[in-house]
Amino acid sequence: MNGQQPLGVCFAGAGMVAELHHRAAVEGGHITVAGIVEPRADLARQRAEQWGVTCYPDLDAALSDDAVQAVFALTPSHAHEEVAMKALAAGRPVFIEKPVAEPDAVTRIEEAAAARDLVCMPGHNYAYQPEFTALRRLVTAGDLGTIRAAWITYVIRHPEEVARHYGGILDEVMVHHAYLALALFGVPDLVYAGCMEPAWEAHPETDQAWMTWHYPRGLSVHHFASFAVDDESSDPWMFTVKVLGDRGSATYNWRDSLFRRPLGSLGFAIPAYEDSYIHEQEAFTAAIAGRPGSIVSGLADARDAALLLRTARAADARKAGLPPLGLPPLGLPPLGEKSLCRTDFRRLGPAPPDPPASEGRFR
Ligand SMILES: NC(=O)c1ccc[n+]([C@@H]2O[C@H](COP(=O)([O-])OP(=O)(O)OC[C@H]3O[C@@H](n4cnc5c(N)ncnc54)[C@H](O)[C@@H]3O)[C@@H](O)[C@H]2O)c1
Repeated sequence: MNGQQPLGVCFAGAGMVAELHHRAAVEGGHITVAGIVEPRADLARQRAEQWGVTCYPDLDAALSDDAVQAVFALTPSHAHEEVAMKALAAGRPVFIEKPVAEPDAVTRIEEAAAARDLVCMPGHNYAYQPEFTALRRLVTAGDLGTIRAAWITYVIRHPEEVARHYGGILDEVMVHHAYLALALFGVPDLVYAGCMEPAWEAHPETDQAWMTWHYPRGLSVHHFASFAVDDESSDPWMFTVKVLGDRGSATYNWRDSLFRRPLGSLGFAIPAYEDSYIHEQEAFTAAIAGRPGSIVSGLADARDAALLLRTARAADARKAGLPPLGLPPLGLPPLGEKSLCRTDFRRLGPAPPDPPASEGRFR
């Protein structure tokens, strides 16, 4: 990394995603894992031996070690705020895995980071893939003309024992869709969403979800995510971004290279996905070195994504009691106001509660 020493990092949480960050640290050389904090004693021992790193008894102990120059919050999302606030209070920059936190908590973290002038970066790894960077450049430069439609699709079947580590797919996976669409097109005017009845044996969370975001000037963005199926067809949409403009189109997917080697939450390796962790670690260290522009999807996007996903939960067609069949044609509700969730439920069935103004409005 430009001849500089790698940044010494403590991983708070050493589960599945920590494996991907550890690989990226070794392969990319931007950070080095100084140690871990992991409450599962057996896992903590295993990682300390496997990776040859210090195993701190708790985060306070890690933060009293000068070798820990930054903290990676790799815990389940409910613990992100606590880890981040402690690390920031101790003067350490923080990287926080997605989904960062609920919107109010993101604001508290953002304020704490700003008060100490410390870098705090969300783990929006898909936004650092070179393929996404290239596509985004085409969109923002206007090379594709006016964008009228876009699709972001994730279909990777997960075993139930892996999915049990996570909440619903809307929050866990579609947060990726949300921050990518925010980076490409900004905040939508309207959100439609639905979550499917899961087919897990016992895990209660939904295993498939969709959202459609409407923008002014006739742009619709279609999101789909599934933990339930793989796409084994000849034109797989395992992970695909596709953008259609009136002067050109752009797309990329993750299927260019795959091989059989389990790591993290997947039973096979997707180099494009795994390397996105290297790219985001590079951006994190660049931001600490004084180049804040290297963060392409920051805490403001994490908060907007959390608000949009909250809105999508409220707009979930299943929960709102839409009739499953024979829907009458949908007409668009008025666009004018910058409200996040104006669905057609008023015409078709019971209206979902409006989000409170503090939650439903942007900027
Ligand atoms: N960016 C991606 O593509 C991606 C992929 C997978 C997971 N994730 C995210 O990473 C986070 C962790 O997911 P995971 O798959 O590693 O889950 P996991 O359950 O495998 O690991 C989380 C670990 O954190 C530990 N932990 C819990 N509370 C802690 C605390 N207060 N301090 C320290 N450790 C604590 C747990 O014991 C567990 O081992 C989640 O937010 C998840 O959504 C991101």
